[in-house]
Amino acid sequence: MTSQVLSRTFIWRRLHSLMGLWLVLFLIEHLLVNSQAALLLGDNAKGFVDGVNAIHNLPYLPLIEIILLGVPIAIHGILGVKYLFTAKFNSGGSDGTKPAMKYGRNRAFTWQRLSSWVLLVGIILHVAKFRFIDYPDSVNQGENSYYFIPVTVDKGLYTVAARLGVKLYSSDEITAERKEFEDRHEEQALVEASKTFEDSKAYDHQQQVILISAQAYEQKLQWLQVLEKQKIDDNQVVAVAKDFGTASVFAVRDTFKDPLYVGLYTIFVLAACFHGFNGLWTFCITWGVVLRVAAQQRILRWAWALMILVTFLGLAAIWGTYWLNLKA
Ligand code: HEM
Repeated sequence: MTSQVLSRTFIWRRLHSLMGLWLVLFLIEHLLVNSQAALLLGDNAKGFVDGVNAIHNLPYLPLIEIILLGVPIAIHGILGVKYLFTAKFNSGGSDGTKPAMKYGRNRAFTWQRLSSWVLLVGIILHVAKFRFIDYPDSVNQGENSYYFIPVTVDKGLYTVAARLGVKLYSSDEITAERKEFEDRHEEQALVEASKTFEDSKAYDHQQQVILISAQAYEQKLQWLQVLEKQKIDDNQVVAVAKDFGTASVFAVRDTFKDPLYVGLYTIFVLAACFHGFNGLWTFCITWGVVLRVAAQQRILRWAWALMILVTFLGLAAIWGTYWLNLKA
């Protein structure tokens, strides 16, 4: 009985650990792609746009997101919270009855757990913001797709939009689009005409021409409705991009214009990188990848080097996308 309980605990621990490793690999990929949103490193954010589009165009994306990201985060997070409540910190002052602050690994143990709280709250807010609230709306029209995202106007916005082939619509321009659309009386008549032979089994040439025009008109109406659906204030415009990755550049740039988000995301990235790469080191020990103390020290140096590199990539996306680069 006892051995069964012990082995189950062991398996949960190992599962938690494996999911942690998987999340570190994802973190590296995620921050590598994001860093290229900072034009300093990328050519008009091309690397970021291509990377985001490649992922966005995967078939069954929602399923992939749930299986490869949602489930590992949930397993690691839920077990992690359980372990957090049973952790005994040992990096404070000591009266001699327990190890004291001076030990670096004791401090790392504490930071591993404190950073977990930052990640728990940060991941929930981050997914809510970028996967749901700021997720671009889209419309497919034949071979073209359009992605819509509201952004705040600034000095450099129009230059950046021109560089990335994005069209910006102010509320006056949206009203003008609607007016121009409603003046297309001939096409409206064709839509009405097409309804009269909707149930036909075959179309003659003239009917085909009418149908094509009517469908183009209805597609434009659909496009306009999504444009009008975007809620914008007086100091905002709607950015319309032809691919998801480019619309995402505008969502990211708009977020990191705000110093509050720059601050919060800086803390988030620091916490994720410390937790991930300190965790990578403990993973190597947990799984017996490195056994000798000297080898463990060497791996620790590698973990720190990777941590610094990936932190730099993450901070480049936060600070570089607007403040250091896309501002003007
Ligand atoms: C959802 C929020 C998270 C919570 C609550 C959490 C919690 C924890 C806890 C408590 C530990 C220490 C386990 C132990 O040794 O007893 C840990 C280890 C670890 N975490 Fe997380 N974590 C979270 C997110 C992440 C993320 C986003 C990553 C990837 C960047 C990650 C990667 C790791 C790794 C690699 C380990 C080390 C596993 C090992 O020692 O074998 N965690 N996590």
